[in-house]
Amino acid sequence: MEFSINPEDIQAWDGSVLILGLCEGDLEKQLKEIKAPNWEAIPMALKVRNFNAKAGEITEFNLFDHKLSKLILVGLGKPKELQMEGLRKAAALGARASVGITGKLGIIFPWNLYDHEEAAKVTTEAIRLSLFKDLRFKNEPEQPNKAEKIELIGLPTSIQSALTEIGPICQGVELARELVGAPPNSLTPDELAKTALLIAKDHDLEVKILDRDNCNELGMGAYLAVAQGSDLSPKFIHLIYQSKKPIKHRLAMVGKGLTFDSGGYNLKVGAAQIDLMKFDMGGSAAVLGAARALGEIQPEGIEVHFIIAACENMINGSAVHPGDIVKASNGKTIEINNTDAEGRLTLADALVYAGKIEPQVDAIVDLATLTGACVIALGDEVAGLWSDNEQLAEDLIQSANSSGEGLWRMPLISSYKEGLKSILADIKNTGPRAGGSITAGLFLKEFVRDSIPWAHIDIAGTVWADKDKGINPAGATGYGVRTLVKWACNHK
Ligand code: BES
Ligand code: MG
Ligand code: ZN
Repeated sequence: MEFSINPEDIQAWDGSVLILGLCEGDLEKQLKEIKAPNWEAIPMALKVRNFNAKAGEITEFNLFDHKLSKLILVGLGKPKELQMEGLRKAAALGARASVGITGKLGIIFPWNLYDHEEAAKVTTEAIRLSLFKDLRFKNEPEQPNKAEKIELIGLPTSIQSALTEIGPICQGVELARELVGAPPNSLTPDELAKTALLIAKDHDLEVKILDRDNCNELGMGAYLAVAQGSDLSPKFIHLIYQSKKPIKHRLAMVGKGLTFDSGGYNLKVGAAQIDLMKFDMGGSAAVLGAARALGEIQPEGIEVHFIIAACENMINGSAVHPGDIVKASNGKTIEINNTDAEGRLTLADALVYAGKIEPQVDAIVDLATLTGACVIALGDEVAGLWSDNEQLAEDLIQSANSSGEGLWRMPLISSYKEGLKSILADIKNTGPRAGGSITAGLFLKEFVRDSIPWAHIDIAGTVWADKDKGINPAGATGYGVRTLVKWACNHK
């Protein structure tokens, strides 16, 4: 898919499908301003159809007397309430309606009501991401029939250069979507490691893959306990992006990498959608997507560590028993009172590892499909953020907001740590049901080196979309990549 800026107006344009964004108000006047030929009948038709250009409204015209074969009108809402989010949604809505028509796709939005550069970026990203379709596992791929050339019409050509980072970001999101969407018999811990090796090779990153023995030597008893019930070997992945210019900031991104979570002996039954637990590596997918994007964008002055303790949570004769006590790599003992709270066990050792990186990193952010409780609290459009550092929390919220990814700060209520007290070990891995996503965060905090600002993002709800929604086609969303990339690039 190729995006470009076309400074001309519609009269000189020769594409086959056009998305036109209108604001509430005088539609006839807005249509006239576009100076399109043969559109005289459209204002009347819009009246008949009761199209008022409210946010989320869409209507289409099939045109036969012009090279343009389809005109898609999308509503942007009241001119005074216009926001980038509305633009993002309208672009996605229009793009979806364009499927089935090949040739050139054009977009005209009332660009002058927005910051040109921002609007061009948001529109491009929304179109590309909403048209993504994963056809890898189909024998007879459906013909996606989507436009290959996309032009933003009526913007100055100087905006073109602002679009250069959109390609790498979208490729990062698409990689994350493919990793999450892949079934667990295809995307194994070993495949995840191979993906990291490939990213390293393509973008000149440093990479280390630790096997079971290496992890054992590092004392990663919590992570290895989760992995011990699977026939597949665990892979601990550490990728490093390093700017060639002097390093001013060192960052670590840690992703939960459970390629399948059966629950272990606390097997997932009843309402828990066990078949969807292939998405339990969504945190690691976001981290690898960000690695790919940053490797291509090459931001200056930063070093970024991407860390994943990948494995499966399965059942066999050597699987963890509920009640087992294990020792993590910081020496803390953990009573595993629930084998289904496995993500925090793998993250515990990954966080300890991130804390030991020399020179020390300035911040650690982990992303994890950690708790069903977070889905209950925030639904599928907003991820939860827990952090003990105000600045880091603020930076992440700001990066998420400007990327269009929902993120909401949640509290780390220290008195809830009471719920994690174990009679025998230093800590238990689960507390009471109430406040389950908070105790999960408090558990993780026990494994973060005190002096390092840390944030935890629970993406259990946002990793997957049940149906097409906004810029996300049904399936894996690739949530987190855009926030992580923006956050990293803001460190200059
Ligand atoms: N991977 C799940 C969390 C999850 C649940 C993600 C639903 C997406 C949708 C995690 O490993 C898990 O099983 N968590 C348990 C924790 C509980 C045992 C304290 C949960 O949330 O039920
Ligand atoms: Mg689990
Ligand atoms: Zn899990």
